[in-house]
Amino acid sequence: MNKKIVNIGVLGCGTVGSSFINNLISKQKIIKKTTGIELNILKVFDKDKYKLERYKNFAVKNPEEIINDENIDIVVELIGGIDYAYEFIMKSIEKRKSIVTANKYLLSKYGEEIFKKAKEKKVYIGFEGSVAGAIPVIKVLKESFMGNKITKILGILNGTTNFILSEMFYKGINFKEGLGMAKKFGYAEANPHLDISGYDTAHKILVLSWITWGHLFSVEKISVEGIDKIEPIDINFASELGYRIKLLGIGKKENNQIEIRVHPVLLPRTHLLSLVEGVNNAVYIEGDLIGKSLFYGEGAGGNAASSSVISDVIDISKKIISKEYIEENFLSEKKLNLKPFDEIETKYYFRFTAIDKPGVLAKISKILGDNNISILSVIQKQDNPQKAVPIIMLTHKAKEKNVKKAISLIDKLDVIKNPTIIIRLEEELM
Ligand code: HSE
Repeated sequence: MNKKIVNIGVLGCGTVGSSFINNLISKQKIIKKTTGIELNILKVFDKDKYKLERYKNFAVKNPEEIINDENIDIVVELIGGIDYAYEFIMKSIEKRKSIVTANKYLLSKYGEEIFKKAKEKKVYIGFEGSVAGAIPVIKVLKESFMGNKITKILGILNGTTNFILSEMFYKGINFKEGLGMAKKFGYAEANPHLDISGYDTAHKILVLSWITWGHLFSVEKISVEGIDKIEPIDINFASELGYRIKLLGIGKKENNQIEIRVHPVLLPRTHLLSLVEGVNNAVYIEGDLIGKSLFYGEGAGGNAASSSVISDVIDISKKIISKEYIEENFLSEKKLNLKPFDEIETKYYFRFTAIDKPGVLAKISKILGDNNISILSVIQKQDNPQKAVPIIMLTHKAKEKNVKKAISLIDKLDVIKNPTIIIRLEEELM
């Protein structure tokens, strides 16, 4: 290619797509001045004709018009979801186009296949926008920290849930009200179930673990819990005990064993990740050379994600212009095993809903004791004899499989009125 013009086709002009188009157009001159490259949006497609109307000069009615256009060098896929995105990306690669995508869902499922095909066709895949919005954590793990043995990644990776938990903490609102606000601000996915169920975080921690440790584990193999069961009462009790509740994506490596899980955690309020509020994301990384590092920034919303998409477009444009193809691999030297979730050991927070009468705590603690779970502290505030009241308990470190067994027995007791809420602790301080 004997040109310093790179032509771009955009699939999808929703929240991120429209921010990308608008921001790229407004920064085009400065990008040309600093890189010498002219980034040219040639065509835009969206299945929603009202969204597309905003880009009359570029609008095409069919994605094939982008995929089959020989003048287009980079296809920016921002339609999200799995089916169409997969089809359009694979077809575009087949036509030797590089891809920039923010689609963590797709990458967590088909990342290896997409990269294999890209290598065959000698094109590039950029996906900085897929994890942690504006934070350039993909670049950090792929390039800046390459000389490290990374042992731990902890991430607040979903802006929507972090925003909801912050609003619940500061404004005392409930989960539903928080979700309504997140949707209004454009943070939530088109399908917000992915955010609140923890699956968006799961897709992101799987992508980070893949590029770090060289194996893309399937989401079906890891444990994923969201924040939909967290109530204001948990936020208040956690706070009283000196903790904040945060939804974390957790990745750890010890020898050839990888631990990946997603669930809400109680974090000491002095932990740096406890200070991450609102729509912000943060990724904490531990490695042999770097020690402990923390990256913080806006994790959702059009501008944040489009900043990463623009960065990928510029990086790939430079590579396209340099002509020499540089292969990219995320492959582990050794076979890695996923640690079974039942084998993890942490401290636990339980909220029992139990009848307030003599002998109830004795029954609960007997079952815990029988399962090797040691109680650290207990709080009961409501004085409501013969009625159901919340009882909060913290435990010493216990094994997940013992906790599951004990809680399933406790929840069968006739004095227990609702399923027990379980939240794990993550206490290792930075
Ligand atoms: N819905 C996502 C979030 C957007 O809330 O973090 C960015 O992936």
